[in-house]
Amino acid sequence: MTLLNAISLSHAFDYPLFEDISLSLNAGESIAIVGVSGSGKSTLMHILSSLLTPLQGRVELFGNNIYQLDDKALVKLRRNDLGMIYQSHYLFKGFSAYENLEVATLLSGEVIDPILLKRLGIDHVINQKVTELSGGQQQRVSIARVMSKKPRLIFADEPTGNLDHATAMDVMEIFEDYLKEHHAGMVLVTHDEALASRCTHIYRMQNGLLKEV
Ligand SMILES: Nc1ncnc2c1ncn2[C@@H]1O[C@H](COP(=O)(O)OP(=O)(O)OP(=O)(O)O)[C@@H](O)[C@H]1O
Ligand SMILES: [Mg+2]
Repeated sequence: MTLLNAISLSHAFDYPLFEDISLSLNAGESIAIVGVSGSGKSTLMHILSSLLTPLQGRVELFGNNIYQLDDKALVKLRRNDLGMIYQSHYLFKGFSAYENLEVATLLSGEVIDPILLKRLGIDHVINQKVTELSGGQQQRVSIARVMSKKPRLIFADEPTGNLDHATAMDVMEIFEDYLKEHHAGMVLVTHDEALASRCTHIYRMQNGLLKEV
């Protein structure tokens, strides 16, 4: 089953950023997007994940053209089916890690999985305030928050940027197991070649074009 289908996307801010980008993602698969800083990877992620309307082209998620959905359908899609892990993680600062997860699971009608917390190595800090956690711990809380929603599609922009190599590899394994178990898909932006090479497809953003590596 095709989860994501992007057709001939182009975007520009003050100057053209990229053009004619097409890609598709099937259930159980992952796509890595690599490329130098400023090449447009995050912008492409925003377009693929319903946050930014492209200048040209279209994005279909689960067979729906997302930029033609009404607001209600879009909110429902984001809440239930999409998991977004951003470069800077937007945790609620005044809350504990656990409360941050609760917000996501209450909205999506899921439950917090203690095994996931243990595998991410955050089970022992889960009741601490987010501001009392290290950068890498906060990053893992934001990964747990997204995965606790049980999304069908995960968009992860440098999700392991604050983690050491071994922990990053552990997180990747958690993602891989999740995709298999839930027939979900993932688009991963990363500068880490070791992480990218574990994905089903690798694309490089270069000179405004996206090419499969
Ligand atoms: N909202 C915006 N308005 C104007 N320009 C923007 C906007 N968002 C991004 N840009 C510009 O588009 C270019 C690509 O930015 P983008 O964040 O997509 O790069 P990136 O490949 O994710 O880089 P990095 O690896 O550093 O995260 C940059 O030059 C950036 O300044
Ligand atoms: Mg970026």
